[in-house]
Amino acid sequence: MPALAASAAPMQTTHRVLTGDARRLHSVADASVALVVTSPPYPMIAMWDDVFAAMNPSVKADLERAPARAFEAQHATLDAVWAECHRVLLPGGILCVNIGDATRTLAGEFRLWSNHGRVLRACEALGFSILPDILWRKPTNAPNKFMGSGMLPGGAYVTYEHEYVLVLRKGGLRVFTGDDSRRARRESAYFWEERNVWFSDLWSDLLGAGQAMTRAPDLRERSAAFPLELPSRLVHMYSVYGDTVLDPFAGTGTTLLAAACAGRNSVGVELEAAFAERIHARVAAAPTLGRAAARMAAHRRFVAERLAAGKTLAHHNGPHDVPVITGQERDLCLYEPVDARVLEGRVEMGYVKAG
Ligand SMILES: C[S@@+](CC[C@H](N)C(=O)[O-])C[C@H]1O[C@@H](n2cnc3c(N)ncnc32)[C@H](O)[C@@H]1O
Repeated sequence: MPALAASAAPMQTTHRVLTGDARRLHSVADASVALVVTSPPYPMIAMWDDVFAAMNPSVKADLERAPARAFEAQHATLDAVWAECHRVLLPGGILCVNIGDATRTLAGEFRLWSNHGRVLRACEALGFSILPDILWRKPTNAPNKFMGSGMLPGGAYVTYEHEYVLVLRKGGLRVFTGDDSRRARRESAYFWEERNVWFSDLWSDLLGAGQAMTRAPDLRERSAAFPLELPSRLVHMYSVYGDTVLDPFAGTGTTLLAAACAGRNSVGVELEAAFAERIHARVAAAPTLGRAAARMAAHRRFVAERLAAGKTLAHHNGPHDVPVITGQERDLCLYEPVDARVLEGRVEMGYVKAG
C-alpha cells in the first residue's frame, strides 16, 4: 500500500476498487489496513434476499420455513468478511460497521432480528474488542410509520428509526512509532468542537448534510448508500494521513470518497462489476467538494462566536494561524485534494494545504 503522510513530502493518495467477493480479500495484505468502514447487506431485510441467496442458495427457501436458520446462514456469509477484515487490519486497527436491525413477519410471526447483536458476537469470537458504538438516528416522516394495533394496547410495535455504527478494535491501542508516524497523527488531529459532536453516541444530524454531498442518485437507489458525512467522521476519528481505509462492501464508493477527501488511501471491494468505473469517477470528483475548506470555515465561525461570547481559546494552531482550544490541535493541518488522475484500476490524488 502507498503510505505517505508527514508534510515533509507533498501528500499523494491512491484509491482502488476491486471487483469481487469480500469473503476472499486475496489481494489485500495482512496488517495493511488501519481502518475498515463499511455497511454490509442487512440480513433479513427483503431488498438483500437475492444477494444472500446468490451466495448461499438454501437461504431463500429457509426464510419462510426456518427463519432462524436463514438468519444464521446470512450472517455466516458476513462472518467470513469480518474474518478477512481482522486479517488485513494492523494491530490496533478499527472496524466500523454500519448496520440496522430488521423487523419482518416470517412464518407467520413478526419479530425483530438483531443484526447488530449478531455481528458483535461474531466479531468478538474473531478476537475483536468491542468499543462504544454510535446510534445513527434516521427519522422517517412516513405517515404510516407506526406498526401494529394502533391505539389499542398490546399489539403495537415501537418504530425503528435508528441504525448502528459498531466500533471494534483489533487488539489493544494502536502504537504510533517514529517521527513521521507521530507527526502524521498530530497533523490529523480534529478540532475540539468537532470532537464534541463526532464522539457523541447519538448522531441525529447526518441526513441533510449527507444527502447534499452524495451525488449518485441512481446508484444510491440500488445500493443503500450512507451519507458522505458518516464515513468522513469515522475516517477522521480513527485513522491518520497516509493510512489505508478499506470498505469490503463498497457500493457507490462513499467510504473511498471520504478517504480521498481526508488524505487517506482507500480500497473498495464490490461484487457488482458495473460499480467500479462509477466509483472511480465519484472519487475523482473529491476536489470539487471543498470538504477541508468547509471544516476550516466552520472552525473560524466557532472561533468568532466564542470570542464574541467573551470566551477565550488558550492555544494557537500554527499551520492555519488560528486560535484553538487545546494543545493537541496546535499542529492540526487540513489538506484539500487537487489534481485527481483516473488511471487503469485506480485514482491518484494530490493535495495542497487548505486555506
Ligand atoms: C449496503 S451496500 C453498501 C453501500 C455503501 N456504503 C455506499 O455508500 O454506497 C452493500 C454493497 O455490498 C455489495 N456486496 C454484497 N455482498 C458482497 C460481497 N460478498 N462482496 C463484495 N460486495 C458485496 C452489494 O452489491 C452492495 O453494493
